[in-house]
Amino acid sequence: MDRSARVFVAGHTGLVGGAIERRLREDGYANLILRRRAEMDLTRQAEVDAFFAAERPEAVILAAARVGGIQANDRFSGDFIRDNLLIQTHVIDAAYRNGVKKLIFMGSNCIYPKHAPQPIKEESLLTGPLEPTNRAYALAKIAGVEMAQAYAKQFGLDAVCLMPTNLYGPRDNFHLENAHVLPALMHRAHLAKQAGADHLTVWGSGTPIREFLHVDDLADAAVFALEKIQGGPDALYNVGTGEEMSIRALAEAICETVGFSGELRFDSSKPDGTPRKFSDASRLNALGWKATIPFEEGLKATYRWFLENQNALRAA
Ligand SMILES: NC(=O)c1ccc[n+]([C@@H]2O[C@H](COP(=O)([O-])OP(=O)(O)OC[C@H]3O[C@@H](n4cnc5c(N)ncnc54)[C@H](OP(=O)(O)O)[C@@H]3O)[C@@H](O)[C@H]2O)c1
Repeated sequence: MDRSARVFVAGHTGLVGGAIERRLREDGYANLILRRRAEMDLTRQAEVDAFFAAERPEAVILAAARVGGIQANDRFSGDFIRDNLLIQTHVIDAAYRNGVKKLIFMGSNCIYPKHAPQPIKEESLLTGPLEPTNRAYALAKIAGVEMAQAYAKQFGLDAVCLMPTNLYGPRDNFHLENAHVLPALMHRAHLAKQAGADHLTVWGSGTPIREFLHVDDLADAAVFALEKIQGGPDALYNVGTGEEMSIRALAEAICETVGFSGELRFDSSKPDGTPRKFSDASRLNALGWKATIPFEEGLKATYRWFLENQNALRAA
């Protein structure tokens, strides 16, 4: 991909899109095309079609989506399936119709069955029932993968689908109720420290196993895919670190980073989600990509960002 290529980063105000935008700029991409939601709502097909016809992007990185943690996914499942189906359908179709040379579709490892063999390989897709709490979201993402692959097969669209594991980093959503586990817990640990609390409540039993990828590593993978991976009907890649940890270990690491020394209490009335979610990224690793940011370092940098931006956190 030429550094002068017109690259549309959809969702650049978010965690993932923001990291990809930063990375592309650092690498010298001079013609990024960016639109805030207020300028173009991707759930509105007419706006998307008009944008593509006018701007003619050569590459598209689709990192716009309605995203949330376990509670938001469960409570707002209708919003999650509708918005994600609409966004991805409009963008993938417009990309094909307007001759886009490369499309990167950002999914998530929640597309895999709840009880998929671990670590989860790409082959596990559609082999069993999904985790119920985020099924609506996961089904939308599965439809996105299928659409990208079907367009690659029928129309020759050069599409690569990336399925990252849990992400964290600057610009994340730190909402106390709706955010993913790491930022929500970091925020709550910070408040507990400020309040001088003697304990911190962690949702669920603490036993689920997850892995956490710094969003700058994902941005690196996205640029790697943009420049080096040939898209096609089978171009589906997990993006992960190869390191897993329990939610209890995560909570302990967060407390250490934040400087909260109270007791951890686990609220088992809250759902745990999938018992173990650990990606096998060997397909992408075999092409030459690997995550490089150590977890403790990434966590400290994320907390620094949180402290510097406490007054401008997302409201929902
Ligand atoms: N965060 C994770 O742990 C994680 C893990 C695996 C995969 N992913 C994937 O990464 C992608 C991005 O997630 P993220 O964590 O970066 O989410 P995010 O921080 O919430 O960002 C989502 C972006 O999409 C934009 N957007 C949402 N609805 C839109 C609409 N109707 N029209 C235009 N723009 C819209 C948002 O704009 P506003 O700022 O205006 O809302 C924002 O820029 C998703 O596909 C997700 O599945 C994320």
